[in-house]
Amino acid sequence: MTTTDHPLIVALDFPDRTEVNVFLSHFNERLFVKVGMELFYREGPDLIEELKSDGHRIFLDLKLHDIPTTVERAMTNIAKLNVDLINVHALGGKTMMEKAIEGLEKGTESGKVRPRCIGVTHLTSSTPRMISDELKMGLGLNEHVLHLAKLSQESGLDGVVCSALEVGDILKESGPDFLTVTPGIRLLSDSKDDQHRTVTPSEANQIGSGAIVVGRGITRAENVVEAYQMYKKEWGSGS
Ligand code: C5P
Repeated sequence: MTTTDHPLIVALDFPDRTEVNVFLSHFNERLFVKVGMELFYREGPDLIEELKSDGHRIFLDLKLHDIPTTVERAMTNIAKLNVDLINVHALGGKTMMEKAIEGLEKGTESGKVRPRCIGVTHLTSSTPRMISDELKMGLGLNEHVLHLAKLSQESGLDGVVCSALEVGDILKESGPDFLTVTPGIRLLSDSKDDQHRTVTPSEANQIGSGAIVVGRGITRAENVVEAYQMYKKEWGSGS
């Protein structure tokens, strides 16, 4: 994917490929899908190859965090899966992030585009109290998110996963070419589930999110295609 791309990414938060196939069977078009740990640890690389051969684009949300050499080697194998987007924990540090990119470059076939790699700063489940009292970090949560976004960029990453509410501050520092991928998206008519601070697709668009990730708003809808179209229309996505 490129930084001029503007995708709506559907989170395939299903336990196995049977449920994935039922969901995808409703669509006549190719999607940009997110495969996370739950599904990948069950179905493995085979599912990725199947989704790719069906023409879907893939964000493999595995949030790598290990010693630099291990991350580099894992990324080489991930690049061979020909996914579009992958992520690492920015808390793994600069060398680990640099090695992630090196690994992806090594694993990308000549003539193909290297998968984009984005950093996870702090998870939306992190709280200010956890950052100060448990992890004993010197900066507050918001400042630390900004610091990790900057470190991700300095390490050669293509962007970060973040809340849409953080996009403005991040882009101010990074410039507009840094990719911001934002979950926590809901239509006004949807339930917020366990997300605390949600924004609508059109708000995310106005704020400048590079891509949105939508899970339950689409996957749990009565009519999944209709829900997808509603989100896409509000987001103004061409993909
Ligand atoms: O169902 P919902 O739209 O809330 O799903 C959002 C998706 O984005 C889930 O797969 C969730 O794990 C992921 N995610 C998130 N917040 C983050 C990072 C990822 O909600 N900070």
